[in-house]
This record gives sequence, structure tokens and C-alpha cells, in this order.
Amino acid sequence: MCSLSNKRIIVGVTGGIAAYKSAEIVRRLQDRGAEVRVVMTPGAEEFLRPLTMQALSGHPVHVGLLDEKAEAGMGHIELARWADLLLIAPASADFMATMMHGKADSLLAAVYLATPALVAVAPAMNQGMWQHPANLDNVEKLAQRGVTIIGPDSGSQACGDTGPGRMEQPDTIIDQASAMFINGLLQGTKVVITAGPTREALDPVRYISNHSSGKMGYALATAAADAGADVVLISGPVNLPTPERCQHIPVISANEMLLAALESAQKADVFIATAAVADYRAASVAEGKIKSSDEVLTIKLEKNPDIVSTVASTNESLFVVGFAAESANVENYAKGKLKTKSLNAIIANDISRPDIGFNSDENEVSWIDDDSTISFSKRSKAQLGRDLIAQIACKYNDQN
Ligand code: PMT
Repeated sequence: MCSLSNKRIIVGVTGGIAAYKSAEIVRRLQDRGAEVRVVMTPGAEEFLRPLTMQALSGHPVHVGLLDEKAEAGMGHIELARWADLLLIAPASADFMATMMHGKADSLLAAVYLATPALVAVAPAMNQGMWQHPANLDNVEKLAQRGVTIIGPDSGSQACGDTGPGRMEQPDTIIDQASAMFINGLLQGTKVVITAGPTREALDPVRYISNHSSGKMGYALATAAADAGADVVLISGPVNLPTPERCQHIPVISANEMLLAALESAQKADVFIATAAVADYRAASVAEGKIKSSDEVLTIKLEKNPDIVSTVASTNESLFVVGFAAESANVENYAKGKLKTKSLNAIIANDISRPDIGFNSDENEVSWIDDDSTISFSKRSKAQLGRDLIAQIACKYNDQN
């Protein structure tokens, strides 16, 4: 469980049936050591009494933008400056549209605009509303501006519908919110990351490879270094600068990557396999350039070693996280790889989509371990790298 001691958190509550869960969120944030203030929109008051939140947080609840009494206590600008994190849960479709447009028509909206703090939203709404392109557009733009989107969960809804849109469970919200405080989270740990493609030579000029750009792995390396880890980045050929404060080991083939991984993993705490390793290599590499005279060329391929499962089975105390690149039944296949490769967790992405996965600037993934499945909605790989490193740090620190 990630600690939130000394963290100052504003819980923003907007109108929606999930508002009753905000009370539990306040309690659990306090259990983790956070100091909490509550700001409610007028719509939230229809679902939850401010008095309840006042009793739980131990402080007056802020509701009105023009409330003289509240402004005399802690004005909205002071409140905005006070916070380390603004956590809006539940966040209605209407409120996210307000955030997107930069309107300051309620105290909570004004606090959002004024705060230099980290911001997270846990959306909650009917599945049709969630899936409306206008709403998804707003969510995507907020994510691009650095707002962390937590959830939503999918399942049966209060209105009788089934689908995505119901608010994530309080524990998941708090885990992901805690994970936003990334600095120092991996201080004193050594993290090894594989990234990019491998190239398997056919002859001196040709090779088998794939479209991995290395962006996901490099984003993870940057975030791990920011979190204080000592990072080794084992990378296939990519066109990216080495992230600052990372040790870079360039490799070409899967066999080279395996050797570097086994060597580096010996003294590591966490191993993250982002690389798109070629599953096969030529059974024999031609010494000279293969002639193109024949109509059909048959090349015998043999299986490459499985790097992540070899590393996992030879280093039992290592916390090992794999990626699963799937084009159908994403979570089911990923769960299979979690088991067969003996991983602590696997991060699944749908590589059939052109907007995420291989060679894109954004990604959308599911984190799967033995206890939970958590969705990380579409966001930049840089932001996702930070969110995933925080998630890894939380889980790793829990086990150690
Ligand atoms: O590099 P980008 O353009 O940013 O794209 C990111 C990505 C799509 C490559 C990345 O998000 C991703 O999905 N990486 C895993 C790619 C992959 O090979 O997935 P897989 O499902 O085939 O393999 C499962 C796991 O086993 C992976 O952790 C992989 O690194 C590992 N593996 C696979 C084969 C092998 N021989 N050795 C391995 O270690």
C-alpha cells in the first residue's frame, strides 16, 4: 500500500450517484496519512450532504464560489495553492467538459484552473454518455494536458445499463492517485528495461524485425530514472536519444538482448520487458548477400529464446513485468502469458489499433496481476510511462 503521509489532497465531488463513494475515498486517503479538504459542486449536494464530508474530513466543506464564510477561512486561490493533488471523484461528463473549456463557473472549476497541483479525475456516468465521442474527446484532451484519468470501470450501472462508465472502486482510485507522487518512489532500486525491436539477420544486408519504435520502453526508462531508480536500458535499434541518467546497452538480436538481460538482471530489483523481441531467427545466416534470382525463397527459421521468462526463472526474487502485444482477446491472452512466463504482472495493449501500441505517441493498456486488472485509458506514452512506473513501484514496494 503506497503511503500518502504529509500529502495535501483536495477531493472534488461532482453530481452523480457515485458521489456516495467519495465519503469512503476521504476515509481511505486519511488512513494512508493524507490531509484532506473537500470541495463539492452544487450538483454533488443533491446526492451527498456536505455535513457528512465535513464530519469525515474534519474541516468545513467548500461549495460556493461566492461563499464569504468559506473564503474567509481558506479562499479558493489559497485552497488551490495548498493542495499537492486535486482528486475529482466522481467526475461527471458535464464537469469534465467544464474543465476542458477552462470555465470557472463553480468553486471546484475555479480551484481546478488555479491549482498548480497534480490533477486526477475518476469519471462516473452512464455508459452511453461515456462512449459519446464528445465526452471521449474531452477525456483525451484532458489527458493530453496532464490530467490523470482513473478508470472508469465497466459493468452493471445504477441506471440498469451495462458497460463502461461506472466509477472505479475507491481502493483502485487511491492506488492510482498515490502512484502519481512518483519522485523518489524507486530510490535505491535497480530497474532493467528492454525496449525496441530486435533484428535477426538473414544475410549481411537483410533482417527480420518489427515496427517497435522504442517509445514505450524509453518513456518507462525516463520515468523510472525520475522516480530515483538506477536504470539499465537494453535497447534494440531505435531512433531515440538515450534518456538522461540511464545506462544504455545497445543490442541488435534477441540472443544479444538475452545475454545483456541475464547479466544486468543479476543485481536488479525490477525487470520490465517492453521489447518486441523477434520470435524467430534464421536457422543459418547467409555469409554473402542472398541472390534474388529465384522466384521463391524459402528460409528456415528457428525459435528465439524467451528473454523475459528466462530472466524470471533464473532470478526468483526479481519483480518481473512483461508486456503483451495482442490483436484479439487482449486480456485473456495476456493472462495466459502472465502465467506461462512466470511474471509478477503483465501490461496488455491492443496492437491492432493504429492510434496506440506500435510506433504511436500514445498508448492504452491494462495492468494485470494475480489480484487485479486496472485500465489505463489512452494517454501519451510519456504520461503512461510515469503512471506505470508508479504502479510498478507501489506493487514492488508492497512486496518488499
Ligand atoms: O516500441 P513502441 O513503438 O513504443 O511500441 C510499444 C510496444 C507495442 C512494442 C509495447 O507496448 C509492447 O507491447 N511490447 C511487447 C511486445 C511483444 O513482443 O509482446 P509479446 O506479447 O509477443 O511478448 C510478451 C512478452 O514477452 C513481452 O514482454 C516481450 O518483451 C517478451 N518476449 C517475447 C518474445 C521473446 N522471445 N522474448 C521475450 O522476452
